[in-house]
Amino acid sequence: MKNISVIGVGYVGLVTSTCFADLGNNVIALDINKERVANLKKGILPIYEPGLEEVVERNVEAGRLHFTSSYDEALRDAEFVFIAVGTPEKKDGGADLQYVESAVREIAKNMTRELIIINKSTVPVGTGDWVAETIKKYQSKDIPFSVVSCPEFLREGSAIADFTNPARTVLGSAKKSAAEKVAHLHLPLRAPIIITDLRTAEMIKYASNAFLATKISFINEVADICEALGADIKEVAVGMGYDPRIGKAFLDAGLGWGGSCFPKDVKALAYMAKQNQTHPQMLNSVMEINADRSNKVVDFLEDKLGDLSGKKIALLGLAFKPNTDDMREAVSIKLVDALSAKGAAVHGYDPVAQDVAAKLLPDLAIEKDAYSALDQANAVVIVTEWNEFKQLNLEKIKKLMISPVIFDGRNIYDPEQMARLGFAYKSIGR
Ligand code: UDX
Repeated sequence: MKNISVIGVGYVGLVTSTCFADLGNNVIALDINKERVANLKKGILPIYEPGLEEVVERNVEAGRLHFTSSYDEALRDAEFVFIAVGTPEKKDGGADLQYVESAVREIAKNMTRELIIINKSTVPVGTGDWVAETIKKYQSKDIPFSVVSCPEFLREGSAIADFTNPARTVLGSAKKSAAEKVAHLHLPLRAPIIITDLRTAEMIKYASNAFLATKISFINEVADICEALGADIKEVAVGMGYDPRIGKAFLDAGLGWGGSCFPKDVKALAYMAKQNQTHPQMLNSVMEINADRSNKVVDFLEDKLGDLSGKKIALLGLAFKPNTDDMREAVSIKLVDALSAKGAAVHGYDPVAQDVAAKLLPDLAIEKDAYSALDQANAVVIVTEWNEFKQLNLEKIKKLMISPVIFDGRNIYDPEQMARLGFAYKSIGR
């Protein structure tokens, strides 16, 4: 059992603190947002993540997981402190480090014993060195410390499984002994551990996310070529994926990638490249391909319905992907903007993200289920592939809609069946 402190109880911080507590450690999670901390103490979570609530509750009850807003309390006994605060995107595409900086200053001021400071937030290459300098600058006493980079690779929607069963743990540090101590915390996860220097660990995170985004933009570009040449992208992806050099994952063509990580991380890597006089040609294309994806929807709807003014368009799925209520950089935002600008009445349904969507998209009429969204609609767009959309009663849908026009942006239906049922159906790359 180790004493661990985690700064920030957003997505990464809450999962990290909860899962380390579940491994038997004593964890204090800190957030400067007092309301968030008060809610967590009552068992109210700031995010939706399947399965997380039970694990939080179990560890709070067992006395291994505590929440606070006080750095003094969080650092009193800590041997390890994880920084898991947000690094949002700045206007110029770089990462905004203001939250990391204030966390680091507070750690420096409040540390009372030797500490290993571990960065989980996705931060520009070189930040680990800057953290070390900042701690030295703001420390009131000369207490020894080490900085370790331990990038987080978990995905929203499967965060607990990703934490407990990682593909690898990457640890970077100037002090190998510190990285080894952090490695020890991860041993129960039985995953390969890579120990390297700080900058390399930081780069592994950006390169991994950029590579995954590249894989998706690649398959999306090939999907367009398939469409033009009469091939089926789903089968092309299966045929490619059996090659272990390519792999099956992240070859689902669709309306593009969104979320809290890929858009900001690809942009930040391109920004770092430019700042350092290299030309991120590939990254620029990856972003350009992604930015174009949602135009396909508007083109298709105009082709089928003509002028969209006054037409009811239903969006099924609003979150950036299934099993989350996260709307950050979701394709649905672009679609609501583009369709509203054309005068369409845009209605939407999402099993979980409806409250977030209501706040974010005043032009969108939120519906209570898929069938009410479709009722009297001129067209429907499948935006997010929630499982419940895969089993909808298609004959009922056809009767409910004014015109049976479907843009399946995530390839969840079978084109032959849709043609048989008499839908004007379009999917991606088939
Ligand atoms: C991602 C990384 O996977 C994770 O390792 C990192 O820690 C954070 O960023 P996340 O943003 O939760 O995780 O979502 P992910 O499942 O990776 O999907 C990202 C986007 O790509 C989504 O918009 C998803 O719809 C899209 N996607 C994913 C595709 O369009 N096709 C695919 O084949 C896979």
